[in-house]
Amino acid sequence: MEPRTRARLALPAAAALLVLTGACTGGAVQGRPGASGLRDPYFPKAGNGGYDVQHYALDLAYDPGDGLLHGKAVITARAEQGLSSFNLDLAGLRVDSVEVQGAAARYNRTGNELTVRPAEDLEKGEVFRTEVAYGGKPKTLTDPDGSQEGWITTGDGAVGVGEPVGSMTWFPGNHHPSDKAAYDITLTVPQGYEAVSNGELRSRSDAGGGRTAFAWHNPEPMAGYLATAAVGRFTVTTGRTASGVALYTAVAPQEAAAGSGPLARLPEMVEWGSSRFGPYPFGTAGAIVLPAGSLSYALETQTKPVYAGAPGEDGLVVHELAHQWFGDSVSPESWKDMWLNEGFATYAEWLWDEDHEGATAEEHFQAFLDGDTDVDDEADSDWYAFPPAAPPGSEEISDPPVYHRGAMVLHRIRQEVGDEEFFALLRGWAADHRHGNADTAGFTAYAEESTGHDLEKVWDVWLYGQKRPH
Ligand code: TRP
Ligand code: ZN
Repeated sequence: MEPRTRARLALPAAAALLVLTGACTGGAVQGRPGASGLRDPYFPKAGNGGYDVQHYALDLAYDPGDGLLHGKAVITARAEQGLSSFNLDLAGLRVDSVEVQGAAARYNRTGNELTVRPAEDLEKGEVFRTEVAYGGKPKTLTDPDGSQEGWITTGDGAVGVGEPVGSMTWFPGNHHPSDKAAYDITLTVPQGYEAVSNGELRSRSDAGGGRTAFAWHNPEPMAGYLATAAVGRFTVTTGRTASGVALYTAVAPQEAAAGSGPLARLPEMVEWGSSRFGPYPFGTAGAIVLPAGSLSYALETQTKPVYAGAPGEDGLVVHELAHQWFGDSVSPESWKDMWLNEGFATYAEWLWDEDHEGATAEEHFQAFLDGDTDVDDEADSDWYAFPPAAPPGSEEISDPPVYHRGAMVLHRIRQEVGDEEFFALLRGWAADHRHGNADTAGFTAYAEESTGHDLEKVWDVWLYGQKRPH
């Protein structure tokens, strides 16, 4: 009895051993599925686990006549685990084919998740290439806070904007700010249209069939929400700032007044920002001015913020420019860290004012405490409604406390540490996390370390406190 039992038990164990040995020697890798989201506290399904994108090559043809987009996305990524399958975020559109490492891959879609199952599992550490052919009429998303993002038609064209999750309406990707990558975006449009994207225009060429191809190159890491593609009958102006940053500004013809408004000071503002925050983080700067009414907000799309109509105030241009350091170069680790974007960009507006014979930052700060709209026209907002580092939900991530109370946090630090330490902190923060990601805990630790001050009360009262500070 006994030997037989032993033999029967031994067999499955031996078989299992054989399978494992086969996995190691036979070239087949043991992978598991990558996560379908990165569990962002506000947008849990945004982004995907198991890989890190290094580069997106997007080849997009768009015709404003029929509103159809034809796309090919080549995504180069590094597997962070053995992968049997992985996800890309994609909303709407039709997927025509998916290849991984040159071989047809199986795929399926549920919600905004495109799950790709490569013919062979991917090995941890492997750099792999995914090619997605897709097309259709891209959609506009309505955010939890009611604002529109994604693909927006503009009258004579369209624009792709993606804060926080709209980029998945026009290209598949790992759409969470924690996975930054370089981009090459080529836009092919009917002759007579301009097509504008992030970074530098490498070439503009005849694409046949009465079309022009614009090849844009963005070498610095970029979060997906900061990618843009704008198609329209823009008037283009190029130039350089005093220190040599290349400028490219595309303005809708009906917004020609932009040329003589606050946007005309952009070259000077780039130099000012560099003196306050450290070297401008990108090779190019500029703007995309859409026809007024196309969007209800401006967005800090990398190197070329998007404006809905000619910006009417210096503060708006300074705000979007300041995001290039704070948000675009130093990007939030999650959407909970939004105040690291908006508090800093708002504080930059106060600083510009202070440095150009307007109200000082101290006066802006006081105006909010007093609700004095003579000094700051947003001083009567409910800036105190919640702590900037903990918005109550996804519909509040762009609310006044994130912007204004966020800026007040910075001013409270300045009051504690003095100007010299404070400006060194702004520059040091931008330098330390240049082209990377950062979170709130990283900032509070850095602020205390770099200034040598205990700032716990500032964090408790201004950053995390539920009560209205005074
Ligand atoms: N982040 C943009 C800025 O500050 C503004 C913005 C983008 C926004 N999307 C939004 C504001 C949605 C309110 C709602 O420049
Ligand atoms: Zn902003």
